This record gives sequence, structure tokens and C-alpha cells, in this order.
Amino acid sequence: MRIVVGVAGGIAAYKACEVVSRLVKAGHEVRVTMTPAAAQFVAPLTFRALSGHDVGMQSGDEPEGPISHVTLSHWAEAMVIAPATAALMARLATGNPSEMVSLVYLGFRGPVVLAPAMEPEMWEHPRTQANLRTLQQDGVHIVGPVYGRMASGLEGWGRMAEPSDVVDALDDVTAPKDLTGLRLVITAGATWEYFDPVRLLTNPSTGLMGVMLANQAARRGASVTLVAGPTATHPLHPAVEKRSVVSAREMLDAVSAAMPQANVLIGAAAVSDFRPAERLDQKAHKEAVGLSWNMERNPDVIRIMAEQYRGQKLLIGFAAETENALEQAAKKRAAKGLDAVVANFVGDGQGFGEGLHQAWLVTESGVQALEGSSKTLTATQILDWIRNQTKGA
Ligand code: C5P
Repeated sequence: MRIVVGVAGGIAAYKACEVVSRLVKAGHEVRVTMTPAAAQFVAPLTFRALSGHDVGMQSGDEPEGPISHVTLSHWAEAMVIAPATAALMARLATGNPSEMVSLVYLGFRGPVVLAPAMEPEMWEHPRTQANLRTLQQDGVHIVGPVYGRMASGLEGWGRMAEPSDVVDALDDVTAPKDLTGLRLVITAGATWEYFDPVRLLTNPSTGLMGVMLANQAARRGASVTLVAGPTATHPLHPAVEKRSVVSAREMLDAVSAAMPQANVLIGAAAVSDFRPAERLDQKAHKEAVGLSWNMERNPDVIRIMAEQYRGQKLLIGFAAETENALEQAAKKRAAKGLDAVVANFVGDGQGFGEGLHQAWLVTESGVQALEGSSKTLTATQILDWIRNQTKGA
């Protein structure tokens, strides 16, 4: 996406460097525009290096002169203003385009995310709050400010939101809301099956795949319940409802409770297939126990849901395999009664956590290779498939 970043003159201007850097790393094309005051805090050259383009400081006509505000306003598909000082908010709220950021803002007609940063008294002042309301009414999305210690040494509300939160806010605002109306239940992470209070049976799943699916689905407008094992602790989109569970049996209970309201189940969890038949109340001492332990089979959460909801709800499982992934996935899909199984390899550094990830979507009609080798892209394509199944392509 083409994004123009407007930087105002406050000490938080240094955080705008990270905002720009994150946007560029995420694959966006970024142009920066600054107020003259901002250039007192961070040199335009810094933003030029980060964005790879000249920085708009004063309006004019390129290529001979400075960058035109009209060019930037028309070029951009989204605008991020970070940090926004009290002075800039006042200019934006009153339509006073006396410097380049306000000029670009007035000429721009797409989504705007604005991250205020100022001393707490200035933020709380009725005039700033009135300007804030005006900007919100005009459709500007505000992120922060957050509570904390200011450069002045004071504590209060006024710190600029973290760069990652600013970028998340932009992603939220610009994401297509194409999953609105869908209710998803997603399982994530490993389950823990205790032998005694200090020992357990589990696997290396981090829950990242399930969390990415949950966050992206929420961003795209779906209601999401994430049934998360103990390792699935990544940051969640605020709209995701999380139910924390430990064992496979707890996961089954939580999924069963959430399913009646849902229309889609994605089983991204790596559920332990077995559990110790006996769980001791006290720590087992090595001299006192033998080397074998009886195991019991755990409930197959997704299979049980498929028995109940097949044909009524969309059911998607995962098959993490060390060999013959596609064959195994096709078998699993048929055996468990699922609409689709996402097949991927595990082992050799693949599959768990953030490593290389290659996946295929196996359905009744065949196999579709998912593009890219990241979990983010895999999640996007699974959700695209769900949208096409539920809402028509
Ligand atoms: O049989 P396998 O564990 O390979 O199947 C993987 C799929 O089944 C995943 O979607 C996983 O979340 C789900 N599953 C489950 N309950 C189990 C085992 C697997 O829901 N006990």
C-alpha cells in the first residue's frame, strides 16, 4: 500500500522512525512529510534513508522544486500521522494548512491514523479534547496516547502509542472487512497433559498459526473465539475472545461450549493424542516410580465436532506431518469428516514457531498449494478460502 507518514515536532518524533521502518519492512511504499518543528527533532535525512524517498517539508512543484502536497495527497492510499502534537491536532481540526503535514491531510481522502503525543496537561485540556472529537467525527482513527513517564519527568496520559501499535491500527483500518458476520472458533497451541504437578506430556507447538488466524480474522471483521493452550501467549487483537485451556479435555469443553454460536471451526492446535492414565497429586520421586506409565487416548476435538456439525458448519483441520504430508492430510480429512485440511511439514526446523512454512489446502476437490513460506501468508489464504466458501467467491 502507498502510505504517507506525517511527522510533527515533538520528542516522540524519533518513534516515527520506527513506524516508517516497520511499514517499509511490511512491504508498503512510504513517503514522509514533516512539519518544520519536526525537523528540529529528527533530520529529514533519517526519514529519507528509511523510506528511500525525499521528504516533503514545504510545498512546491517537483521535479525542480520541493515535493508538492497535492502530489502526496493524491499518491497516498492511507495516511499515518505520528506523532501528532497538540498544535498539529489544532491545525487539522480547524483546517488550518500552514505547513506541509496539514496541507497533505486536507487534500487527502483516504483512511487516516493519528497518534497523539504531548504533555498530559495539554492532552487533557478541553480545547485539545474538543479538537480530538472533531477529528474523530471527521473519521480520523486515533491510537493512544498511552500512560507513562513523559520526557519532562511527569507521569500521565500523553506518551505516543508504541510504533507496533500504530502499524497495527493502520492494518485494522485498511483491512477489508470481508469476514464480517462470520463467527470463528480457532484452537491454538499445544495441550499439556500432567503426570504429576511438575511433569507433563506435550509438543513444541507455539500456537503462532492459530493466533495469526485469530488476529487476521478479527481484523477482517469476524467474531473470533480463540481456544488457546498454555503456550499460545502471543499478543492478540483486542476483539479476539480468548479461552485459556491446559489439557485436551479442557479444550474439548471450551470448543463444545463455543460451537453452537459459530459457523466455522479451525483446529490449529497440536492436541496431545495421549494423556497419562493417572495423574499423581504429589511429585513422583524417581526412586518410587517405575519407567513405564499407562497412557489413555485423548478426545479428538475436531473429530467430535465434525460428528456433531458436519454439513452445518465449516470445519478445517491441520495435518503437521514429517512425511507424505499431502497423502496423510487427504486421509485425515476423509477420516475426520472435515471440509479442508491444511497440510504442512514439521521437523528439520520447519513447522513450529516462526520458521519456514510451506502449506497446502486439501479439500474434497483437490490440493491447492498456498503461496509464500510464512504463516502470515498461509493464514491470509486460509481465511480467503473460508470467505469464498461462506460468502461465494
Ligand atoms: O490426527 P492429527 O492430530 O494429526 O490431526 C490434526 C488435526 O486434528 C488438527 O486440526 C488438530 O487440531 C486436530 N486434533 C484435535 N484433537 C486431537 C488431535 C488432533 O482436534 N486429539
